[in-house]
Amino acid sequence: MNRHSKFILLVLECTLSLMLVVGCGARQTKFHIGVSQCSDDEWRSQMNDEIRREALFHDDADVEIRVSDDDNAKQIADIEYFINNDFDIIIVSPREAKALTPVIRKAYEKGIPVIVFDRAIEGEYYTSFMKLDNEGIGRAAAEYAVQAVHGREGRVIELRGLDDSSPAIERHAGFSKIIDSVDNLTIEASVPAYWKKDAAYNATDSLLNLHPDINLIYAHNDLMAIGAAEAIRKHNLSGITVIGTDAAPALGIKAVADSMIDATFIYPTEGERVIKNALAILKGQHYDRIDLVPAHFAVDASNAGILLRQNQLLADRTGKIEVMNARNNLMQSRHQTQQYLLIAAVIAGVLLAIMIIFLFRYLRQRRKYEKILTDKNRQLSDERDRQTQLYNQLEEATRSKLVFFTNVSHDLRTPLTLIYEPVSQVAEAPYLTPVHRSMMQLAMRNLRILRRMIEQILDFRQYQNGKTELKSEELCPVRYISEWADAFRAIAAKRHIRFMVRIEAGETDSAAVDIEKLERVFFNIVSNAFKYTRDAGEITVMFSMDTDRMVLRVSDTGIGISKEDQLHIFDRFYQVDKVHPTGSGIGLSLTKAFVEVMGGEITVESAPGQGSVFTVTLPVTHVEDRVEAERGSAGEAVDFEQEVISELQPVEKEALDLDNERPLLLVIDDNPDILTLVQDLLPDTYNIITATDGRTGFRLAKRYVPSLVICDLMMPGMDGLEFCRLVKDEISTSHIPVLILTACKLDEQRVQSYESGADSFISKPFSADVLRSRVDNLLANRKRIHDLYVDPERGGSNPDFVRNLPSTNDPNAVESQFYGAFLDKVMENYKNSELSIKDIADAMGMGAPQLSRKIKALTSLTPVDIIRSVRLREARKLILSTEMSISEIAYEVGFSSPQYFSKCFRDEFSTTPTELRQ
Ligand code: FRU
Repeated sequence: MNRHSKFILLVLECTLSLMLVVGCGARQTKFHIGVSQCSDDEWRSQMNDEIRREALFHDDADVEIRVSDDDNAKQIADIEYFINNDFDIIIVSPREAKALTPVIRKAYEKGIPVIVFDRAIEGEYYTSFMKLDNEGIGRAAAEYAVQAVHGREGRVIELRGLDDSSPAIERHAGFSKIIDSVDNLTIEASVPAYWKKDAAYNATDSLLNLHPDINLIYAHNDLMAIGAAEAIRKHNLSGITVIGTDAAPALGIKAVADSMIDATFIYPTEGERVIKNALAILKGQHYDRIDLVPAHFAVDASNAGILLRQNQLLADRTGKIEVMNARNNLMQSRHQTQQYLLIAAVIAGVLLAIMIIFLFRYLRQRRKYEKILTDKNRQLSDERDRQTQLYNQLEEATRSKLVFFTNVSHDLRTPLTLIYEPVSQVAEAPYLTPVHRSMMQLAMRNLRILRRMIEQILDFRQYQNGKTELKSEELCPVRYISEWADAFRAIAAKRHIRFMVRIEAGETDSAAVDIEKLERVFFNIVSNAFKYTRDAGEITVMFSMDTDRMVLRVSDTGIGISKEDQLHIFDRFYQVDKVHPTGSGIGLSLTKAFVEVMGGEITVESAPGQGSVFTVTLPVTHVEDRVEAERGSAGEAVDFEQEVISELQPVEKEALDLDNERPLLLVIDDNPDILTLVQDLLPDTYNIITATDGRTGFRLAKRYVPSLVICDLMMPGMDGLEFCRLVKDEISTSHIPVLILTACKLDEQRVQSYESGADSFISKPFSADVLRSRVDNLLANRKRIHDLYVDPERGGSNPDFVRNLPSTNDPNAVESQFYGAFLDKVMENYKNSELSIKDIADAMGMGAPQLSRKIKALTSLTPVDIIRSVRLREARKLILSTEMSISEIAYEVGFSSPQYFSKCFRDEFSTTPTELRQ
């Protein structure tokens, strides 16, 4: 990561942290508290005010109050709303227990905490129940009634709330319990007025018709009490005490203060308490599951005024708190807006900074790239100039080369002709020995090669100077093509090459052809195919002609040409095989030149190891003169066809008669001419076997264990160095001296040759004398080493001497060790009359024939001779130093017959065992 990236990351990191800090200050997760009120009246309004006020003091809580206007269905929907909107807690005052229980149970079982207050449900599906002491209120009201009648007889009407709401049930229970316990009070009627003023008015109106002597009316809430008071007024009755419940300041207490009703009992609203309980539940703090709230306090004419004033004060203060709160909210929202603006400004600033950094970097990079680009362009243009210069130099060099070659060729031509003629005559002389004839053939063949190379260079120069003329005659090319192809058949048969000629044109189809040039093209391509195709390969010549063009296609299964070489094979002096260049490198470019002079083109398709296809396409034209006469020689002294064919022909060598007395030499060279030459130079003194590649050479070396190997350094496949290493590593051949032949004079190659174990080194070209003396020397050296292994006095092995040879720094240490190991095995086992050469060879980890050849090469003796010699020497010691009988000694040293032992002993020591003992 570079400096800029690190900096940008740092800036982003800071911005994010800042946003988090500011954002956290602005936002806070809040508890959502849902409050469901079953009805809308003064008592509940007061409670809702308390709830809201309490919530103001808790930043972590917000409250939503839903009021259902005495409608069960609406209240159920409100609670569903809280459930679906993931409220954290639901506070509910259920209108009717039975109707509301299912939805409350649903919320509770879903895991939402539920606080039930004021009115109960069926079952305990709540987290907490804020239970108000309704029975106590009923009792207090009854006690107030008892006092109100002052011991007189009294008749009472009770106006009940909803029958399925717990306050109505409990207030009735408390009230009737007390009234029933006193004798002077009787409940004349107890009727439901459903918490409603109208229902209470109507019920009271009817009841007063029936019971005009009523003394007291007890209503379960103030609304019903006021309804009853209005009905009393309508009946124009006086002296009836009216008691209500709830004591909401704006309704019940005011009604008392206004003398509408006589008394009311405080039913505590406890808005603050219910919110505190809710937060305790949400925060996992302590709370009561059943939260009992006592309530018995009566408001009557004596305290209603004070309570009203107190309430008014409270209302004022609450109003102020609310104003403060509203301001606070405003401030908070402003503050938040400022925070957001700050965040936005910081982000914008950071982004701007990043953009500036990027812009700056971009500009700098661009300047850098522009500079690189300019440098590159300059380099390219320099390079282009250099290339052009090189190309021009190359062109000039090639031209000079050609001029030089042309001049030299001109100069060479005359002496060459003067050599060629006498040599060709001598080569034909009848008195030559077979060896001399072979040498003369070799000379002739190479003279032809030389002559053809000179002709090609002269032709090419002529072409370069634009002096190559087209001498077209109207003739039938098919005839010539078949004739030329036939010239290759003999060589194809000799080399087991499948040679096929396919002609797709009529014998009499004629065209205007420069037949000499076509012939040169044909022979060049086909002879190349023969040069680069191994024995038993395949060569196909295809010739076709139609009205527009003639095509000559020559395909072979030869070594093929790489893609890289294909680009250059038609270039002047280009040599595909740099190790063994086979010509001047001008043949194919001259062929191409001739094809182009004839208005055609030549192409090649090839892949290494898969052969090549050369295709020559020439246009078919016609000239007036039709020449059908036999074509004479090309005018020059050179017979092109004969030259090409004789070049491909190997010089015949007469079979050599292997004579076992003469040292055997192995000669390895991929050039058959060199093999022939070496054989010719060393024919009488040595037996010679040959191989044309390293691998075959190594096989022959192991098989025949020759006295010396002469090996070419550079050969395709296994080269001379590798061959040498293998020979020196193989125990059966390691002693054979290797003489390396090379066309190179570089010291480095000599070092490599010696490192790979070569014993000597000769540069080509070499004279017969050098070769002979080098070979003789190596063989003489070998003989000296060999003599070390042989005891000259007795003509037997000399194990003691061999043992004493130092094993290090001795060039023949490997051989000594080998021979020592062999003798050890003989000494260990000679007593065993069954001992065979195979046993010893097995013990030494090699084949018996190899062991025999190796021992023979080192000592001139066979392993059997050596074992016998050891046995006889041991027997001699026993005869001189023990009392054992001659037969016992014979068996002891491993002879199976005493007679045979005696015979061998006499042969070895010129005395019999018995004579020796005497
Ligand atoms: C208001 C109210 C009160 C009464 C209470 C009982 O809806 O009727 O007047 O005391 O409900 O739950």
